Amino acid sequence: MENKQIAISKFGDPEVLVVQTSSMPEPKAGEVLVKVHFAGVNPIDVKTRAGLGWAASENKDNLPWVPGYDISGEVITLGQGAERFGIGDNVAGFIGFPLAGGGYSQYISVPESALSLVPSSITLEAAAALPLAGQTALQALDKAGVNEGDRVLILAGAGGVGHIAIQVAVTAKAEVFTTCSEANLDYMATLGAHAVNYQFAPVSERVEEADVLIDLVGGDAALDALKCLKDGGKVVTVPTLSAELICEKAKMLGFEASGMLVDPNPEQLDALLYMVSVGLVKTEIQQVFAMSEVGEAHRQIETGHTRGKILLDMQC
Ligand SMILES: NC(=O)c1ccc[n+]([C@@H]2O[C@H](COP(=O)([O-])OP(=O)(O)OC[C@H]3O[C@@H](n4cnc5c(N)ncnc54)[C@H](OP(=O)(O)O)[C@@H]3O)[C@@H](O)[C@H]2O)c1
Repeated sequence: MENKQIAISKFGDPEVLVVQTSSMPEPKAGEVLVKVHFAGVNPIDVKTRAGLGWAASENKDNLPWVPGYDISGEVITLGQGAERFGIGDNVAGFIGFPLAGGGYSQYISVPESALSLVPSSITLEAAAALPLAGQTALQALDKAGVNEGDRVLILAGAGGVGHIAIQVAVTAKAEVFTTCSEANLDYMATLGAHAVNYQFAPVSERVEEADVLIDLVGGDAALDALKCLKDGGKVVTVPTLSAELICEKAKMLGFEASGMLVDPNPEQLDALLYMVSVGLVKTEIQQVFAMSEVGEAHRQIETGHTRGKILLDMQC
């Protein structure tokens, strides 16, 4: 059997993403072989493909490289000593982060400890939408110490991270404010957030006395949003490029501020899957592209206006 993967042999435009065929991976001790049904596409995949950021500079002598950190699929072989899952179990995971990647594969061997069982009530599409984005959402809210009754402003609520962060914060009984374009105002309201159209006015003219800012946009939008915080407010800024600048400015204004790098944590994925299974979180999937359409999937992410998540169907 052959294993098709999407690989890059050089950094550049989406055209550098090409299908390669490799041999079927053998699970080592403690690993399982997963038939990947869906792979999630994240902004970091797009940046790395273009040669930008830490994962690209660390992998520049390691090409061809297979991107992808989010997978869902089915366990088809157990390595020696692997006992958490049975053959045929549906699993999902945040794998190979940040250097190895590998998720854009039809088959991949991964340590069983990196995976979560996907309950039968959850589709493999929904499970593939959760790992990197969902864990970023949970970790950002944890870092900010969001409490019941807090006024939480989440920039870019309609994106992969934002739509989950809103629902988790609403579940924690925070009062949630968010920014989005005109097209997403209704969608944001359905998630329980007060939505501000950033195309109409800066958020600082619409939101005040926020306890927490979760910044998923960075740059000028984040600098403006600092004006929405009350004294002693907390900032977690997620885009790495502008994190230093935002933290510096926030601290000058007397706020607690930090950047973050998401850290894979299968227990958090278990928690997210549970939240989906009981209806507390609903994943939004804008589009599923066939594996061969990976270039279009990357172009969609590059628009900066994806609602929820983009997935690759690795079996068609
Ligand atoms: N540090 C880490 O560990 C880490 C982890 C995950 C993600 N990230 C970074 O965090 C950011 C968000 O990630 P993501 O996966 O959520 O991205 P995404 O899904 O690509 O975000 C797309 C969303 O951004 C919204 N948006 C675009 N410009 C906006 C603006 N000026 N104001 C408000 N919303 C705006 C869009 O809504 P509209 O269409 O309504 O404009 C769209 O729904 C990215 O920069 C990503 O690289 C960092």
